[in-house]
Amino acid sequence: MTDLRDDVRAAAARLRDAGVASADVDAVELAAHVLEVDASEVRRLMVLGGRTLPGSYAVLVDERARRVPLQHLTGRAHFRRLTLSVGPGVFVPRPETEVLVDLALGEVDRLEAAGAVAVRVVDLCSGSGAIALSVKAERPDADVRGLELSPDAYAWAVANRDRLALDVGLEQGDATRPCFEDWSGAVDVVTVNPPYIPVGAVPVDPEVRDHDPDVALYGGSEDGLAIPLAVARTAARLLRPGGLVLVEHADSQGESLPRRLAATGEWTGVADHDDLSGRPRVTTARRSH
Ligand SMILES: C[S@@+](CC[C@H](N)C(=O)[O-])C[C@H]1O[C@@H](n2cnc3c(N)ncnc32)[C@H](O)[C@@H]1O
Repeated sequence: MTDLRDDVRAAAARLRDAGVASADVDAVELAAHVLEVDASEVRRLMVLGGRTLPGSYAVLVDERARRVPLQHLTGRAHFRRLTLSVGPGVFVPRPETEVLVDLALGEVDRLEAAGAVAVRVVDLCSGSGAIALSVKAERPDADVRGLELSPDAYAWAVANRDRLALDVGLEQGDATRPCFEDWSGAVDVVTVNPPYIPVGAVPVDPEVRDHDPDVALYGGSEDGLAIPLAVARTAARLLRPGGLVLVEHADSQGESLPRRLAATGEWTGVADHDDLSGRPRVTTARRSH
């Protein structure tokens, strides 16, 4: 029987050989998962030595080396303060989306400071619920609803909402069509992380290409903007005049999406924002009066 430290190091080397960029972190995370402890405890055990890992560790390392996403193997993804359940059929939330939530929370704060109660937030294309559930967790006075097209992803979102006991109204439906009509013209903030990859631009990473659902990835046109722009039209229907839309986009769309939104005449103050790695990531705009 080999020591945990040797097993984790061997696993990291194996994952590195398989092209996994985060090999060291993933080897530790998988050990934490099989031991049901957190990663810092695994690192402590690696220093102390004298502990072994169960046979299930090697099985998981094999799967990770075949580029199954880490989050599908552990069944969870960390997003801001939340741990979300994820797996086949749902998009794994990404750290770059956290900046969109920061911007949305800033708008909620601004409105609450001006005296608004129960700021209305709608999250379109909700996936696992990452954005909608984070907004509710971090701003509990906001009134939050979310919409997701895929029945599989919707089921993950509902499961996350229920496990986290967050009061978010989730619905299954098409965000390119009218929705939440009882809130038409009365929403303060619309968040959207739509599918936006240009059709034909197949992602390089097998974790994305082979495991994120196509419906979560491809934006429906050569420039990837057909679905984002159609969802933005829905946002324009939902928002009150002056209400804010926030749309995530690919780093190559930081000029084209703002330009296309401004050209509709439905928006003012169109601006673009970088993510934490300095890449263009989120367009914001206010509903024209
Ligand atoms: C890039 S993922 C984002 C998921 C989640 N908001 C996040 O940030 O992790 C896009 C999501 O939009 C959903 N979707 C695609 N087309 C849609 C549509 N027409 N209406 C509603 N949701 C849609 C996909 O199923 C997927 O869950």
